[in-house]
Amino acid sequence: MTAANSSPTPSDLRHPMFSWIYARMSRRMEAGGMSGLRTELLAGLSGRVVELGAGNGLNFAHYPRTVSEVVAVEPEPYLRTHAEGAAATAPVPVTVTPGRAEKVPLADDSVDAVVLCLVMCSLPDRAAAMAEVRRVLRPNGSLRFLEHTIAPTPGLRAVQKIVDATFWPRIAGGCHTATDPVGTISTAGFEVTELRRLRFPDIRFTQPSTPHVLGTAQMATA
Ligand SMILES: C[S@@+](CC[C@H](N)C(=O)[O-])C[C@H]1O[C@@H](n2cnc3c(N)ncnc32)[C@H](O)[C@@H]1O
Repeated sequence: MTAANSSPTPSDLRHPMFSWIYARMSRRMEAGGMSGLRTELLAGLSGRVVELGAGNGLNFAHYPRTVSEVVAVEPEPYLRTHAEGAAATAPVPVTVTPGRAEKVPLADDSVDAVVLCLVMCSLPDRAAAMAEVRRVLRPNGSLRFLEHTIAPTPGLRAVQKIVDATFWPRIAGGCHTATDPVGTISTAGFEVTELRRLRFPDIRFTQPSTPHVLGTAQMATA
């Protein structure tokens, strides 16, 4: 319900064309089933949550009232402005703040949950981001993720690698489709406790970004 201002900051990352398109395209994705996936992603969360790469804030409406505060970190100024608008009507208090996943502007052990939604594919340094997730998450805290992922079939995987090496990152804000979020999360020392593989959009025509994973992870115990 509260929002910071979107003045330029050193952590800003500018993708004006992609951001303009995403702000519109993402609304259509909601109608195509993404809205339900967001509700599933956030169900059961409570306490203080940080969402990294919050975009235009489409998750905010889906946070359950058991969440006491959402800190929404977003480096892209245009999307951040839209997120501030979404924060104003959210059912829980949301503070939108500039920053990057590789350097989260929060103290150690300061959140009960971290949310990564359609963001890992755009991160230039996923290992650094996961180290930050570990740092800010309190012991036994929860990591929720909804991400697109490397394809299960060799044919689509080959297509993903071709588009990643050519035009896709340029038109999609740095996104690489052949990323492996579950592998990245596991390598960072998390145990994936719930995992659902799905197609989005679930239509006949398969796109490089169709395969998705939705799940929960917790710090693995030694
Ligand atoms: C496809 S959009 C997803 C936005 C939002 N999470 C959603 O669910 O609609 C990817 C987002 O990741 C953000 N992003 C890109 N690089 C980032 C970084 N290094 N740290 C944090 N967010 C980043 C982009 O600005 C954009 O908001």
